[in-house]
Amino acid sequence: MANRRIYLSSPHMGGDEITLVQEAFASNWIAPLGPQVDAFEMEFSTLVGTKQSAALASGTAALHLSLRWLNLQPGDEVICSSLTFSASVNPVLYERATPVFVDSDEATWNMDPVLLREAIADRIRRGKRPKAVILVHIYGQSADIDPVAALCAEYGIPLIEDAAEALGATYKGRTPGTTGLCGIYSFNGNKIITTSGGGMLVSNDSVLINKARFWATQSRDPAPHYQHSEVGFNYRLSNVLAAIGRGQLRVLAARVDARRRNCAYYENAFKDLPGITFMPEANYGRCTRWLTCITIRPDEAGTDREKVRLALAEHDIEARPVWKPMHLQPIFAGAPRYGGAVSARLFEEGLCLPSGSNLTEPELARVVDVIRGEFKRARG
Ligand SMILES: Cc1ncc(COP(=O)(O)O)c(C=O)c1O
Repeated sequence: MANRRIYLSSPHMGGDEITLVQEAFASNWIAPLGPQVDAFEMEFSTLVGTKQSAALASGTAALHLSLRWLNLQPGDEVICSSLTFSASVNPVLYERATPVFVDSDEATWNMDPVLLREAIADRIRRGKRPKAVILVHIYGQSADIDPVAALCAEYGIPLIEDAAEALGATYKGRTPGTTGLCGIYSFNGNKIITTSGGGMLVSNDSVLINKARFWATQSRDPAPHYQHSEVGFNYRLSNVLAAIGRGQLRVLAARVDARRRNCAYYENAFKDLPGITFMPEANYGRCTRWLTCITIRPDEAGTDREKVRLALAEHDIEARPVWKPMHLQPIFAGAPRYGGAVSARLFEEGLCLPSGSNLTEPELARVVDVIRGEFKRARG
């Protein structure tokens, strides 16, 4: 039998999802509201430890509504992590504001708090007090939230946490995404749990969450007819998809364990290979290893991340370069930035390995064989 394609991170249903979807069908709430949405929001709030949650069509929508809450004006500046997916930053452009990028630190791959201080002070010196900080928690690892939150408090800048990739992680016993003004999560198909597509906005501010729900349902004023005083969006999550989300929440802990096991498997399999380093796990919390990320130093390894990626592709195995940092993206050319060399190197040398919680041991062994084979080839 031919080997099946190995994906980077594919959906992994638990079993209860289908029963809950059937409940949604039985109730005929096939709509962007209904009892599954209400229950999903409540169960999510309990899990992450926040007062309120709003289930939305995507993590991007959640970020967009977070920024809308801040009432940005054209030209306002928002500080963002450079090492991330463009969805962390696009909503800044939706609101006609300007992103300012801050580099990662080597220890966590997340925003460097020392550089953040420098960035805030410099923007203020230039007469541009930042209107928000979007702190990303990358690849299942919480950023060092406390120093970032302290800086934001010191300067009176709202903190928005992009925890799209970090559901299930911990930071000093807390859940990343719950410290700032608000936080967002993604249930896109490649995430640790998925609703096929979807997102969550969380906050302890119920006024913020209620406003986000209002905007997300086309800003309908309370009236028997359709009346609108503000621009609206169609951003709510379907009741059918919320049913999937509820089932997925029940298996989140098992998914974290499985992804951490994948990472441990790779660490063990590559410990004798020169030039490979794994994304470090910070000692303040538990990383989910949503994706197992390695860097390959060409001078030590004799090969590089692109050769390894292509070797895997040849064997029908999907691997991806680490995010190309935002300060190197054509769309953000010219945006102010602080640092940049760390995330640039992580992009040049970094590779995300197949990390799905449904990978079998023979599949992990296939990945390892191809990578070890490429290292062997390179050394002649
Ligand atoms: C860091 C980060 N932020 C935001 C998003 C956006 O989430 P969504 O795809 O649900 O819009 C994603 C993933 O897609 C992401 O990885």
